[in-house]
Amino acid sequence: MTDQLSTLLSESRRFPPHPAFAAAANGTPELYRAGQADRLRFWESQARELEWMTPWTTVLDWKPPHARWFDGGTLNVSSNCLDRHLRTARRNKAAIIWEGEPGDRRTITYWELHREVCRAANALKALGVKKGDRVAIYLPMIPEAAVAMLACARIGAVHSVVFGGFSAESLRDRINDARAVCLITADGGYRRGSVLPLKRFADEAIAACPSIRDVVVVQRRPGSPGDEAFANMTEGRDHWWHRLLDKADPDCPPEPQEAEDLLFILYTSGTTGKPKGIVHSTGGYLTQVATTMRYVFDLKEDDLFWCTADIGWVTGHSYVVYGPLANGATVLMYEGAPDWPERDRFWKIVARYGVTVFYTAPTAIRAFMKWGESLPAKHDLSTLRLLGTVGEPINPEAWIWYHKYIGRERCPIVDTWWQTETGAIMITPLPGVVTTKPGSATIPFPGITVDLVDQKGAVIPTGGGLLTIPDPWPSMLRTIWGDDERYRETYWSKFPGRYFAGDGAKLDDDGYWWILGRVDDVLNVAGHRIGTMEVESALVDHPWVAEAAVVGKAHELKGHALAAFVTLKDGQRGTAELKDDLKDHVVRKIGAIARPDDIIFSADLPKTRSGKIMRRLLKDIAEGRALGDTTTLADPTVVNRLKEMYEGEEG
Ligand code: WT7
Repeated sequence: MTDQLSTLLSESRRFPPHPAFAAAANGTPELYRAGQADRLRFWESQARELEWMTPWTTVLDWKPPHARWFDGGTLNVSSNCLDRHLRTARRNKAAIIWEGEPGDRRTITYWELHREVCRAANALKALGVKKGDRVAIYLPMIPEAAVAMLACARIGAVHSVVFGGFSAESLRDRINDARAVCLITADGGYRRGSVLPLKRFADEAIAACPSIRDVVVVQRRPGSPGDEAFANMTEGRDHWWHRLLDKADPDCPPEPQEAEDLLFILYTSGTTGKPKGIVHSTGGYLTQVATTMRYVFDLKEDDLFWCTADIGWVTGHSYVVYGPLANGATVLMYEGAPDWPERDRFWKIVARYGVTVFYTAPTAIRAFMKWGESLPAKHDLSTLRLLGTVGEPINPEAWIWYHKYIGRERCPIVDTWWQTETGAIMITPLPGVVTTKPGSATIPFPGITVDLVDQKGAVIPTGGGLLTIPDPWPSMLRTIWGDDERYRETYWSKFPGRYFAGDGAKLDDDGYWWILGRVDDVLNVAGHRIGTMEVESALVDHPWVAEAAVVGKAHELKGHALAAFVTLKDGQRGTAELKDDLKDHVVRKIGAIARPDDIIFSADLPKTRSGKIMRRLLKDIAEGRALGDTTTLADPTVVNRLKEMYEGEEG
């Protein structure tokens, strides 16, 4: 049994809802009953909370593994997020409160956001962007990111947001896979005091992107000397965002979309070297995102909701942009790092604006823990009333710390399990209803079914196994862009008729889910998904590398860190400089999130007689454990040599 599992199994603390919270909570036991009694009716009643241009005729059309939700219905996501609020008292409510890393601030009301989105939509139209066209978005966490996404949604263009921390090559591959016609980027973005030159990366990328016709550039650094030169604008191809918007009409009628029309593609790592373009559609996605937003975050009219995720990840799509805005909430957006200029930046922000609901990742919580409770203690966090976590398993110790020092023992914690593929939250407590246990994501959201299965796919009532989803859900991925075969193969072939999430989990006697993490070759590093194959491909792309194997090694803050075992081509020497060079090479190929922590040179890698690299043994070595079974190895001496080398270097 793993250490992690035994820690979880011994966790016996319980946190029942506070009666005062429960009395006012959006979530109710009735909601669970409704979800259980009739899933389709439940989701249908939730879909009715949105504004439809024409009603649907069928709730669900399920031809495994393809689901169509709310067929026949039409709606527009941007008008659901904007226009309908303009007809209410929310018109002048803040939609986005934004703070840049250098300390600049903006507040944008629903009225203003609507005008900006319409202008951006008209600007895209003027560039010839049409319904169904793909638009790549490569921006820092600035309000324009939300504006760009909503502008695409308004005209029926499909956005593909690429995280600003990805390299030029990653951006290039994503643009080419989606054949995007337009790229929206910025001259730069701030990260830990320095400027990330996004436009330069973008230029490098699109030199090899034949589908891109136009590049729209947001000026993140207005007034900085040498701006024009910094952005390196190419006549005819590149356009300043502010100039296009200045010229554009602030009124743009929303394009009616079929419920199943695509809203976005978002690339995520899989078990091959090639990221998967996860495809999300319109009606079902918005229904589940808006519903979970209301109930999981207990959203009230006067809340200030802060989700710290970047819009480059699905969490940013669903709970920075679409979920909050569909519900007419005020969302806080922050551009930079949590430790800039000091390690209490987040708590300063909570206190300055009066954040009420705060949603972040365990990796951040573990960093806060390490930095000490005196930092949050310096700030007034009394406005907080609910806390959330997402992205990786949270260890009970971090959960308790979050509860004590951020929630001051008042705030419920929602540990939410979901994925890029699920589009919205799937397993979570409803605050005010469900008793929480530190480290458990608790129970499925109303209207969602989840089954634990064994290796053979048989459903098991309790114990350890694999997490599967037997029934389609509204915000599920529709396919993998351009590769429906991979969609079937990856998610639906291991256990026919069931969606396989790739996670191992434990179900306890109370029916609570304890997510143990990925069981495939996907790693979770600081809440970010990285495929071992992607990093291996980046390493073997280096001219001196013959072979590479990458494993995840337990890491105190990041959950996992990357350890790379590398064999060099004949005649090359594994020097310290080469290690740095290889790490930089991975950063250039993928981005800083994939930088390996350790590189271990080895003359051989442990392989089975059929030539398969034994990653399990490499993981044992990287984590300093006694070696597991080596009897199937072609050359058992390899691992001992490796182990000695690894331990020698660490000491
Ligand atoms: C993987 C999905 C969707 C949010 C951001 C990550 C892990 C996610 C939890 C949680 C334990 C979690 C799983 C999942 N994960 N939330 N609450 N407890 N593990 O999205 O990049 O698509 O990664 O993150 O392993 O499969 P993603």
